[in-house]
Amino acid sequence: MAYRMPTSTLLLQVFVLVFAARCAYSWRREEFRNCNQTPFCKRARGLKPEETSYEASEVVLVDGHLQGKLFPLSIQEGDPSSPLSMHVFFYSDHIIRLKINELNDPSDGTKRKRFEVPYVIEDSLDEKRLWIQKLVEENGASVVTLASNLKVFLQHKPFQIRIQDGEKCLLSFNSNGLFNFEQLREKKEGDEWEESFRTHTDSRPYGPQSISFDVTFHGAEHVYGIPEHATNLALRPTRGPEITSEPYRLFNLDVFEYIEDSPFGLYGSIPFMLSHSAVRSTGFFWLNSAEMLIDILAPGWEGDDSNKKQELNESDHIDTQWISESGIIDVFFFVGPRPKDLLRQYTTVTGLPVMPQLFATAYHQSRWNYKDEADVYNVDDGFDDNDIPYDVLWLDIEHTDGKRYFTFDHSLFPNPKEMQEKLASKGRHMVTIVDPHIKRDDGFFLHKEATSKGYYVKDIHGRDFDGWCWPGSSSYLDMLNPEIRKWWAEKFSYTNYAGSTPSLYIWNDMNEPSVFNGPEATMPRDCVHHGGIEHRDVHNAYGYYFHMATADGLLQRSGGKDRPFVLSRAFFAGTQKVGAVWTGDNTAEWDHLQVSVPMVLSLGITGLSFIGADVGGFFGNPDPELLTRWYQLAAYYPFFRAHAHLDTKRREPWLFGEPYTSYIRDAIRERYALLPYFYTLFREASMTGVPIMRPLWMEFPDEEMTYTLDRECMVGSSLLVNGVYTQGAHTESVYLPGGLWYELKTGKMFSGGDYFKIPVAMDTIPVFQRGGTIIPRRERPRRSSTQMVNDPYTLLIAVNGTHEAEGELYMDDGNTFDFAEGAFIHRKFIFSQGCLTSVAINSQKSRKKFISSSMIERIVILGLELPITTHATVEPHNRRVELEVGPSLLRSGMQSNAYIIRKPNVLVSEDWLIRVL
Ligand code: NOJ
Repeated sequence: MAYRMPTSTLLLQVFVLVFAARCAYSWRREEFRNCNQTPFCKRARGLKPEETSYEASEVVLVDGHLQGKLFPLSIQEGDPSSPLSMHVFFYSDHIIRLKINELNDPSDGTKRKRFEVPYVIEDSLDEKRLWIQKLVEENGASVVTLASNLKVFLQHKPFQIRIQDGEKCLLSFNSNGLFNFEQLREKKEGDEWEESFRTHTDSRPYGPQSISFDVTFHGAEHVYGIPEHATNLALRPTRGPEITSEPYRLFNLDVFEYIEDSPFGLYGSIPFMLSHSAVRSTGFFWLNSAEMLIDILAPGWEGDDSNKKQELNESDHIDTQWISESGIIDVFFFVGPRPKDLLRQYTTVTGLPVMPQLFATAYHQSRWNYKDEADVYNVDDGFDDNDIPYDVLWLDIEHTDGKRYFTFDHSLFPNPKEMQEKLASKGRHMVTIVDPHIKRDDGFFLHKEATSKGYYVKDIHGRDFDGWCWPGSSSYLDMLNPEIRKWWAEKFSYTNYAGSTPSLYIWNDMNEPSVFNGPEATMPRDCVHHGGIEHRDVHNAYGYYFHMATADGLLQRSGGKDRPFVLSRAFFAGTQKVGAVWTGDNTAEWDHLQVSVPMVLSLGITGLSFIGADVGGFFGNPDPELLTRWYQLAAYYPFFRAHAHLDTKRREPWLFGEPYTSYIRDAIRERYALLPYFYTLFREASMTGVPIMRPLWMEFPDEEMTYTLDRECMVGSSLLVNGVYTQGAHTESVYLPGGLWYELKTGKMFSGGDYFKIPVAMDTIPVFQRGGTIIPRRERPRRSSTQMVNDPYTLLIAVNGTHEAEGELYMDDGNTFDFAEGAFIHRKFIFSQGCLTSVAINSQKSRKKFISSSMIERIVILGLELPITTHATVEPHNRRVELEVGPSLLRSGMQSNAYIIRKPNVLVSEDWLIRVL
């Protein structure tokens, strides 16, 4: 299809050149605002404790929740002194929600309403409301009892909330008196509301409206979460004696070549913080999508009242200050008591992670760009020729006709359907990119329709906002509007998206949104969305709404049958119920490999478990050693995709030759062998919120040594993975928590509770199976995951000190929602007293069934030191099968002996028992 050449082509080319040149340099700090350049942040950081005290009054129980008003005791210059409305709701599982807003005077319909973020809170939350019947007044506080010891104290003067377990305070709000709420007001003469940053002016038509407050995590040793930042997992103090750091920033931005070890905001934001100590884990979530800044206050920070803390009888606590540009206070307190409880509580509020299709959990091959169909076929053949499995081939922006999404450049991709079908015949899928910026080209159907329907975000003058992105002059769909999301979703039907087939899935990039010529390379804050909402209010959720609409489109195109797969770069609280994300434009450097671990972990513990980093690093050219190490680590990321910048050298897994091709092949094959385990973990995440890749303290909450580990992680509860992050490394120092561990490469047993110096060669990174676990594996190399569905399983049993072990296996059809009606197999394997039994976890009658003819073809037992017989007995039927002692055969280098039961040939779907003693 020929499109009219836009008149601005030359300008565009110049712009793209300038932009590309900019990309070639590293991150430019001065292009992004710091707290001092952000007046509301500077104001909030300058507040002295109690400077803005409020008093709670008229506190009463209404419809099972607390309601009252907050009256300012001291007034900030220029602030209206109206009282604020306050509500405290209580939910099952001890979830507490506090809402504070301006009082809505029903007689005054002219008053602007502050923005409340829609589509994040689960509808089902309301059903979990507790209807509190009793309110007690105690020493100037209204007190609600949630459980025998768990009480919520709403102190009246000054206003403060404390959640206590007996005498122990767990969490408190405004215990440092930093609460401040700038109310909307009439502009008076002389008021200067405009703000400038670099060449941009924000008209700020509604003036200052920021909110800030303090939250204390009592008894906490460390706090975690609030992604996305390229830094340590345990968050570091940002303010305090001799600490002058920027606060952690949550503002979705397209940051080119981000640096590691920085609190600057990246592509997504989840305002959820977790605290942990051996005694307790607690959590705090603020539902607010405006720019947010969070300070972790070190002991002795200006305003720290240590006397008060002594009164509360506590040694450890962490004070934090939360600052947002606008919106309301809608916050949730979670009381744990353990890390996994926090995930359950947080996902009760914001939703559980989506269960992906099986193919999406396998390996993805991407690059900007696979140039044409011949290139696609060559890469596809390359995998087969080198016996390397892969599931998905990705097409970046250059596949389109001039960056008009939903089109193919027909000179490069003349037969997109045939191309997808050819890959599908090998069980493989494709992904194409669809970004939110729409090329302003009158000949482009999408632009024509969006313009005529008035579907674009408006600028301050009421015109369609026009910004620069890949296609040049572009406009941005207003994804806050449900009507526009519905319209967008329809664009993914097979008829509307010409050239698409059922094996094609989608990638949403640049949805922060990225606007090359906008302030901080994003949309101006005074742009206007549906319902007159300013962009400043909704900024951090924009990408989430876009992602949501795209996933809905994929769901609809299959008539609600297939699980969508959409990768997004921007994210917000709630993204976990939509799809996967990745950590954006990292660099081919060792530090970026290492920081990918805390980045993936931080997202996991804030609910977003389907996450990975570009394998190899997006910018730059990894040498074969770095690339190999990256594959070896990434094989354990929940989302496993290689991707690279347009200007980088080609780096498909076989291009560096031997021995690297073999190392990379082994790493990818290991992921495929572990797919049954990963899929079972995805199931666990979708039922409990517990992430796939998790920090060690989530599994070993009492072990203090694990609290600050950034180089190692758990994959599920059974595998411990430690990457190799330095060139030419010969050893890695790995902390193994208490209990037995088995190094997968050698089968060697370790008794944990200490650091171990593990020798490393180039062929693998240190990976350990925890004693007491059983991992299901599929060892037969195939072209793709979809060709493994009938393959037999190996069970790898690693016994604990009492010669026992347990594990699970979850299976379903891998692509539909029939599992929701019971069409799945979920087995539990228990090894105890020399007997391995398989029992069903789903024993209830279900409407639909999933049937599998897969067998268990091998059982390997590590660490068993008991005298056993020469054969094993399989029941039912009392069948004898051979039992060997030998190297486990999982890897050729296995040094330790293992017991191996070959061909027990029991069906994975049935109950059975195998005796080895
Ligand atoms: C930015 C994304 O982060 C990157 O992955 C992609 O290749 C480019 N945009 C081009 O689409």
